[in-house]
Amino acid sequence: MKSFLDLADLSTDKIQTLLDLANRLDAHPETEALRGKVLSLLFLSPSLRTLASFQAAMTRLGGGSFVISPDMSIHGLETRPGIVMDGTAAEHIREAVPVIASYGDAIGIRAFAERKNLEHDLSEVEFNALIDLVDTPCINMESAMGHPCQNLADWKTLDDYDVPASGGKFVLSWAYHPKALPLAVPASTLYTAARRGMDVTVLRPDGFELPEPVMRKAKDAADASGGSIVESDDRRAAMDGAHVLYAKSWSSTRHYGDRLADQKLREDYLDWCVDESWFATARDNCHFMHCLPARRGVVVADAVLDGPRSIVIHEARNRMLAQMAVLYELLGA
Ligand code: CP
Repeated sequence: MKSFLDLADLSTDKIQTLLDLANRLDAHPETEALRGKVLSLLFLSPSLRTLASFQAAMTRLGGGSFVISPDMSIHGLETRPGIVMDGTAAEHIREAVPVIASYGDAIGIRAFAERKNLEHDLSEVEFNALIDLVDTPCINMESAMGHPCQNLADWKTLDDYDVPASGGKFVLSWAYHPKALPLAVPASTLYTAARRGMDVTVLRPDGFELPEPVMRKAKDAADASGGSIVESDDRRAAMDGAHVLYAKSWSSTRHYGDRLADQKLREDYLDWCVDESWFATARDNCHFMHCLPARRGVVVADAVLDGPRSIVIHEARNRMLAQMAVLYELLGA
């Protein structure tokens, strides 16, 4: 494995190897495995879990890491190509990224979508331009359309809770949020559940359909794995017999890049806050998943997040274990 950019780049055997390795490293720590190795972490977008779990993962494997983000006392970074740098930014990303990469044996990069132009974001123009600047192994710590570290952790979480792959019903639901959020988690979560062979329902109100290329990629994965994908705006029908409800807010594809139009549309759906009533037709032990952060009382009710359905803390800890497996594969002997 040369880089870790998208689960779609990996064979099913390789995904299983990573999952097995994550379990093995949890049960049998290898505190010298990455001794002397350094991971560079570039955060151009905010984080809690990804930031902490990558540092913890490297430390647990005996290596080290360092973090660079625009919030630190670094020179202002310019990202636009071909710009005359006569403003406040003192350094261009074209030098900064290879310099940061040169200090490590691998680099993790987080750069959320610009969310101005859907085609641009679907093509991962920004992220691909960044990884083209480095020649060490790269890890996608969340790009415009992908969050493979979250996806691998989520797959492990489903396995840990014995959620069936074949015949398992996975509901990916839009939830209300006051801001238009990126498509990376819903797009890559949909792909992951389909790739795992699950029967997936995308539950979303009118106007929040996922983009056609995202649906097509997931449908192709479902066809190959024996899973299925349907879309619905009917909560009771969508949740009927569900094993898992995975909630996430995302931008309106219809009004992509138009903040005011998106906001006007989403305000019709303030009641898309997950509470216990959502589970009326689900299996009794239907789990609640969310990648976090989640706004309490907005995206999900306290009673669900604090109750027995919620597996979000386990899911978040699995970020560290999944990433340990990725790092071990990329940097281990
Ligand atoms: N789920 C996730 O990536 O969390 P952070 O944004 O806090 O890293």
